[in-house]
Amino acid sequence: MNVEDVSFWYGPKQALKDISLDIYANEATAFIGPSGCGKTTLLRCLNRTNDIIEHTRMTGRILLDGEDIYAPGIDPPVLRQRFGWIAQKPNPFPRSITANIAYGAEIQGIVTNRKERDALVEQTLRAVGMWDEVKDRLHEAGTDLSGGQQQRLCIARAIATNPEVLLMDEPCSALDPIATALFENLVDELRDRYTIVIVTHNMQQAARISQRAAFFHLGNLVEVGDTEQIFMKPRTQRCLDFVTGRYG
Ligand SMILES: Nc1ncnc2c1ncn2[C@@H]1O[C@H](COP(=O)(O)OP(=O)(O)O)[C@@H](O)[C@H]1O
Ligand SMILES: [Mg+2]
Repeated sequence: MNVEDVSFWYGPKQALKDISLDIYANEATAFIGPSGCGKTTLLRCLNRTNDIIEHTRMTGRILLDGEDIYAPGIDPPVLRQRFGWIAQKPNPFPRSITANIAYGAEIQGIVTNRKERDALVEQTLRAVGMWDEVKDRLHEAGTDLSGGQQQRLCIARAIATNPEVLLMDEPCSALDPIATALFENLVDELRDRYTIVIVTHNMQQAARISQRAAFFHLGNLVEVGDTEQIFMKPRTQRCLDFVTGRYG
């Protein structure tokens, strides 16, 4: 994806100022920076979920595979199917594990019968490393799983509809360290097949799982580059201070 000169306003308040950055396939790109700097806002610009919020305005361009996703003729609900969204708090539906995964795929006609549905459920649960854990209780409610399992179920649900880009907004904030480690390993595996953008407030996590990192401050993109460069040799004092924990 290419973000070109994007500015964004909530009413009179400007939340993003002239942001340009590229997001590459088969990489995890981390958005980092202090609370309120615009990370979630930019993430929501990428799949046009900000469109739903009233009194907002965006300028600039965002391209997906070279195509302007804000061009006339783009249907936002169709566009959004090319993205998966993993929220801060795991948000499975209060229905069975199977129903959680199959819901979107059934609506989109990706699966049309029980056999296809069950195959999809198995395939996606294997992809998130959960098949053996839950294969004997697929009828149980997704909401009864542990927090870490719920978040991996949400990834299974997201990938069941064949998205190209996975957008994750602080996906580990409600997880314990062990569940977080499992989640990070999963992100690393998913990178082979998806483009991943992850907002995280955990600098160790950003350093561990991303290949590129973008540092934001007060709606500005201060620095973007290889994760190693951002963490080991930041070009700006502000970024250095942030990644070394001097403020945040
Ligand atoms: N729905 C909204 N309406 C008005 N202002 C908002 C809304 N969402 C976010 N903001 C403001 O936009 C700025 C950026 O917010 P956000 O993108 O959520 O930052 P981050 O994710 O980095 O914490 C903040 O000043 C925030 O208060
Ligand atoms: Mg946020």
